[in-house]
Amino acid sequence: TPLIGIMLLGAYLCGSISSAVLVSQLFGLPDPRKHGSGNPGATNVLRLGGKLPASLVLVFDLLKGTIPVWGSYFLNIEPFYLGLVAVSACIGHIFPIFFGFEGGKAVATAFGAMLPIGLDLGGLLFASWILLIGITGYSSLAAIITVSLAPLFTWFIKPLYTVPVSMLSILIILRHHENIVRLWRGKESKVWDKTKRIR
Ligand code: G3P
Repeated sequence: TPLIGIMLLGAYLCGSISSAVLVSQLFGLPDPRKHGSGNPGATNVLRLGGKLPASLVLVFDLLKGTIPVWGSYFLNIEPFYLGLVAVSACIGHIFPIFFGFEGGKAVATAFGAMLPIGLDLGGLLFASWILLIGITGYSSLAAIITVSLAPLFTWFIKPLYTVPVSMLSILIILRHHENIVRLWRGKESKVWDKTKRIR
């Protein structure tokens, strides 16, 4: 139906607002697409600018997932399509139309999109990510492990969403290919590592 199309487009446009780039400009920080890991996300803004701008990016990127999915939920869009709205917001974040299609890895946006689908599922995934960052020190590794487990958790908690969540997991893992190489070589930076790695 046209309503689903509008929500998918709206989610894509919403996801396309690169908060990492905007917040960095606001704070006079270097462009996260050109410095650090080269990724416009909260982790890289933490590296380049510290906790306050990084927290703003994290919250804004979470909301880019939460708002379109929440809106679609209230419009009674059925579960599978609700899941596709989540995927669409993440595709916007990864390939933003307003920022030369140079986007991020959609970790925060995916978690934000899960919250209206189920606070239990979204909360579990978000908590797992934070916990794994605490244990391993790597934002990327924490994301990779959490999203790898996500389809399984979804199958148990919200089975109707298993297909779209699996799509998101594959997308997010593929976006981490450079991180996987760096982790493998022992070159990945930890979240509390202050060295400004240039890619
Ligand atoms: O949220 C993205 C994170 O998983 C990795 O970011 O900057 O270390 O590549 P980064």
